[in-house]
Amino acid sequence: MMVCMEHYKRTHHCGELCARHEGAPVTLNGWVNRKRDHGGISFINLRDRYGVTQTVIGENPSALLAETAAQLRNEYCVAVRGTVRRRPPDMVNSDMPTGEIEVLVHELVILNKCEVLPFQIEDESRAGEDLRLKHRYLDLRSAGMQKRLRLRHETAFAVREWMTSQGFYEIETPTFIRSTPEGARDYLVPSRLYAGKFYALPQSPQLYKQLLMAAGFDKYFQIARCYRDEDARGDRQPEFTQIDIEMSFVSRDEVLSMTEGLMSHVFQKTLGITLPVHFKRLGYDEAMELYGTDKPDLRFDLPLHDFAPCAKEGEFAAFNGALAAGGAVKALVVPSGAMKTPYSRKQIEELENHAKIYRAKGLAWMKVAEGALEGGVSKFFARAAAKIIDRLGAKPGDLILLVADAKRKTANTALGAVRSRLGKELFLSEDSEAAKRFEFVWIVDFPLFEYNEDEERWEAAHHLFSYPQEQYHDTLESCPGGVKGDLYDLVLNGYELASGSIRIHDPVLQKRIFSITGIGEEEAQAKFGFLLEALKYGAPPHGGIAPGLDRLVMLMAGETSIKEVIAFPKNSFAVSPMDDCPAAVDGRQLEELHLVIKEPKEEANP
Ligand code: AMO
Ligand code: AMP
Repeated sequence: MMVCMEHYKRTHHCGELCARHEGAPVTLNGWVNRKRDHGGISFINLRDRYGVTQTVIGENPSALLAETAAQLRNEYCVAVRGTVRRRPPDMVNSDMPTGEIEVLVHELVILNKCEVLPFQIEDESRAGEDLRLKHRYLDLRSAGMQKRLRLRHETAFAVREWMTSQGFYEIETPTFIRSTPEGARDYLVPSRLYAGKFYALPQSPQLYKQLLMAAGFDKYFQIARCYRDEDARGDRQPEFTQIDIEMSFVSRDEVLSMTEGLMSHVFQKTLGITLPVHFKRLGYDEAMELYGTDKPDLRFDLPLHDFAPCAKEGEFAAFNGALAAGGAVKALVVPSGAMKTPYSRKQIEELENHAKIYRAKGLAWMKVAEGALEGGVSKFFARAAAKIIDRLGAKPGDLILLVADAKRKTANTALGAVRSRLGKELFLSEDSEAAKRFEFVWIVDFPLFEYNEDEERWEAAHHLFSYPQEQYHDTLESCPGGVKGDLYDLVLNGYELASGSIRIHDPVLQKRIFSITGIGEEEAQAKFGFLLEALKYGAPPHGGIAPGLDRLVMLMAGETSIKEVIAFPKNSFAVSPMDDCPAAVDGRQLEELHLVIKEPKEEANP
C-alpha cells in the first residue's frame, strides 16, 4: 500500500470546500465516515479533523476506481482526487458547512485499511468506558472528542495569551521533587543512584512558585501537570492540569480580580460569552448557612432557611433537642411551581435517604396549604402555622423539608445535599436555560484549620502555607478553630474550579503554623527547611491561585466527567486500559532501583 503522498497530498481539508470552489480540481485526505450506494452511484463521506465532505463516484467509473471503491469500509484512510461540483438543489445539506458541494472523484487510493471496529465512531460514543479507553485513538475520532480537545487547546491558548498580556512569565518547575505533605498521597519515583531514596511527583508546584516569588519573578504562571494518589471521582484524575499562578506584593482582591480577568478572556475568546466583570462573593460561613456547602451551584436559588425561631413555636422533640444541644434546624422551601406534580412520600423518602448519607438523622417535611401546614410533622406546628408560612415566605403547594441536628454543620451539609439533588431534579434538566448558564462565585474567609477527629489534631484546611488573617495572629494557638485564613475558592456551577491564598512570607509565622498542625521543629527543618530558609532572605509578600484546567474545560463543554476533556485519561481504577498501565516491570529494573516486591497477600478464599 505504498502511495506517493506527494501526488496525493491534500489541497484542501474536509471542512472547507464550498460553492465558491465549483469546478476546482482538489485532492482530499481523510477517513471514510460513511458510504452509501444509490443506483450505481457511491457517496463516500470523507472526514478529517476539520469536517466532512461528500465525495461521489459517478456512473460508469473506470474499472480501477470501481474496484477500489468496492473495497472501502468505514474508517479506511483514503486519498481522493476529483473536481468540486455543486449539489443538485434538493441535495443541498444546510446542516453541513460543506453541504452545498460534493467532489466528483477521478482517482481514489486506499492509504490504509481498517479492521472491524470495536465500536462505531459516532458524534458521541455509546461504547462502555473501558472499551472507549482501550481504543482511545478511535474514540478520539468522534466529533464530540474532537470538539472538546479543540476547546481545551483554545482554552490553554487563551490562558497563555491573557497571562502574557498581564506581564506573567511561564516558568516550568520540576516534576521530580522532594516528598512534602500536601494533602493527598504522593506518587513516588525510586532513585537508581541512591538506594532507598525517592523522588516524588508534585501534587502541585506550590512550593516552587513561592520560591519563584522569593527569586523576584513577581508574576508567574504555568500550565502544570499535578499528580495525586487519591480515589478517582468524576472531577478527579490521578494526573491533572492546573493553571498555576503566583504574584508578589498583592492583596487578596488583586488575585481575585486578575482571575476574573482571566476567566472573562477565556470565555470570550473560546465561547464568545461575556462574563460579569466581578463575580459574586460569599463568606465561607454564609455559604454554609445559605447552601450547606462551600461549592454552591447558583444556577438555581433555593436557599436554606434557619428554622430555629419557628421550631421554638412548635413542639417537635427532635427539633427542640437539636437546638438545646447547641445545634440547628434548617429548612428548604421547594416552590410548587418547580415540581411538576407534588412530591410523593416515596420521593420524599428518597430525599431522606440521600440526606442520611450526609449523616442527617431524618428529613422532616410539611406541605403548605392555604394558611395551614399539612402532613409530615405539621401536627407539631399547627398553632404556629401562619407565622411559619409567613416567616419562610412559603406559598400554598410548596413543600417544606427540614433537618435538625445537634451539629450545625451536619444540619447544613445534609440539607445542602438535598438542595443539590433537588437542583438536578427540578431546575437543571439537560436542555433547560439554567443548565447552560455559568454561575461563578468566590468563597472567601475559609477557616485556616480543620480538626481531624481520627488523628485528634488540627490540620491545614487548604495547605500549610496560607496566611492567617491579621486579626487572628494573637489567637492562633489558643483558638485554632476560630482562625480565618486569607483563602479563597472560585466555584463554578457547584464545582470547585480554583483554590488559592495569600501566603505566609514570615518564617516565624510559618513555624507557628507547622507547630499547630503537629509538625515539630525537627520535622519542619527536615521537610520544609528549604522553604523556611528562602523566607529568611527577604521573600516578598505573595499570593496566588490555581484553577484546574480539566475542570474548567469540562464545565465549558457542559460535561460532568473530566475524562471527556483529557486525551488519554485513566479509568476510575487509576488504570489505562489502552497500554495496560500500571504494569509490572522486569526483575533487572527492580534490581537497579534496589526494590524488592513483597508478594501481595493471597486473596482469602470465598
Ligand atoms: P488545590 O489542591 O485546591 O490547590 O487544587 C487547585 C485546583 O486543581 C483542581 N484539582 C483537580 N483536578 C482534577 N483532578 C484532581 N485530582 C484535582 N485536584 C485538584 C481543582 C482545584 O480547585 N497549590 C494549591 C493552589 C494554590 O494555593 O495556589 C492547590 O493545588 O480545580
Ligand atoms: P420520628 O418522630 O422519629 O418518627 O420522626 C418523624 C419524622 O421526623 C420522620 O420523617 C423523620 O425522618 C423526621 N426526623 C426525625 N429526626 C429528625 C431530625 N433530626 N431532623 C429532621 N427530621 C427528623
